[in-house]
Amino acid sequence: MKIITEKTAQAASARAFDIVNGLSKQEQLKVLGLATGSTPLGLYKLIRESDLDFSQCTSVNLDEYVGLKSTDPQSYHYFMQKHLFSAKPFKESFFPDGVNPDAAAVTREYDRVLAQHPIDLQVLGIGQNGHIGFNEPGTSFDSHTHHVALTESTIKANARFFDNPDQVPRYAYTMGIASIMAAKRIILLAFGKEKAAAVRQTVKGPVTPTVPASILQRHSDVTLVLDKAAASRL
Ligand code: GLP
Repeated sequence: MKIITEKTAQAASARAFDIVNGLSKQEQLKVLGLATGSTPLGLYKLIRESDLDFSQCTSVNLDEYVGLKSTDPQSYHYFMQKHLFSAKPFKESFFPDGVNPDAAAVTREYDRVLAQHPIDLQVLGIGQNGHIGFNEPGTSFDSHTHHVALTESTIKANARFFDNPDQVPRYAYTMGIASIMAAKRIILLAFGKEKAAAVRQTVKGPVTPTVPASILQRHSDVTLVLDKAAASRL
């Protein structure tokens, strides 16, 4: 694992942007895997303000809440539209279909999409419990796209984006751990002291499904981009 630590989240986002920019300029970015959450917002802002052109690039997105339409402001589809796609149109963008209640059909279809679009670079955040995408602790390392019941800690952490905690969806569709590990390169961004314990377990702990991100120790091209607070327990 390569670890980059910068004093601030802003400086760290700039380092993450350098990686995206470099690959894009070398035309090595045909498929970009994207994450939601507050952490990649600085990176997305830098991309929006850049001269990068994604019109020949496909995005595949990590996860989506079950039951929310793409036009719902709380959906991850809407989030990506607002923070990136509206300013930087991609050739095409894929999400698991959050409104299809047939989980088997959704996961089968998204696995097909991922098989057809091998990821050149996957951007990840991390949950306070070490989750990546919505792969909560205990998820099998062999998992592909699947339907998940979110843990109480994730629901609580995500409640800040909703007016009322009761509105936070309890279920999601997510790329699995195996889907993420299939990406050619991965950058994981983590900012703030709330992430310090998860970052420590990811880097220094045993590789265990209890800490989903710990599997990244076994990937051949992973870069962790941290601010000082997130790196404080390394
Ligand atoms: C959600 C997303 C993850 C993201 C995590 C952390 O659970 N599914 O992809 O990494 O939130 O969010 P934040 O960056 O806001 O801390």
